[in-house]
Amino acid sequence: MESREFVAGLVAEMRALFARLGEQGALEAEAQGSVDVVTLLGLALRSELEAAELAGFWMATTPEIDARLVFGRQCGDEMQHYQLICDRLRELGREPEADPLAAGFSPLYHYVKGLRSTVERMAAGPFAREAIAEVRNEQFIALCERLGDGATARLYREVIQPEEILHHRLGREFLERHCTTPAAQEAAAAAARATLAIADELSALAEKSTGMRTIPVS
Ligand SMILES: [Fe+2]
Ligand SMILES: [Fe+2]
Repeated sequence: MESREFVAGLVAEMRALFARLGEQGALEAEAQGSVDVVTLLGLALRSELEAAELAGFWMATTPEIDARLVFGRQCGDEMQHYQLICDRLRELGREPEADPLAAGFSPLYHYVKGLRSTVERMAAGPFAREAIAEVRNEQFIALCERLGDGATARLYREVIQPEEILHHRLGREFLERHCTTPAAQEAAAAAARATLAIADELSALAEKSTGMRTIPVS
């Protein structure tokens, strides 16, 4: 299969999955009442740090220069998001945790960190994880607006979200250039699907602790 056609197929698969998650998000929005922006921003710090660590690790251990450009850029952006969220938490009167990853990394982090080939890393990280970020953050922005927190909604809509969308696009373009063989396509598809499956499980777990799935993702 031609690489662009292959990637378009993966994107369609993700959209179908996200449409289902979107319906769940709407239902939860009606059901919830106790969740607050500060708690969700605290969880977002974990996600940003994990994304930055992965991108930085891959930047240093991936040979292809066009991949290193994507990972290096992403690493810097995610750390910047981390800082912006810390600043916002302080504005809201909450001191951010000194080390949000003190309790350890998520199962998704361990899975994606174990990926060896560049197409797998790109498929799991910028391509799939950042696509999840776009959907989750859209739900989070809507939640902030419903709760009357316009400043947090603006931070996400104007600064963080456009960069998460860029990370996904850079990952997609890389896969379009490099997934030219059946073996590369198989590896990329498996990594993207596993990432989506683990992320879905994690948001189900998050729902148990926070009462909702609209956790912002980096
Ligand atoms: Fe990102
Ligand atoms: Fe981010």
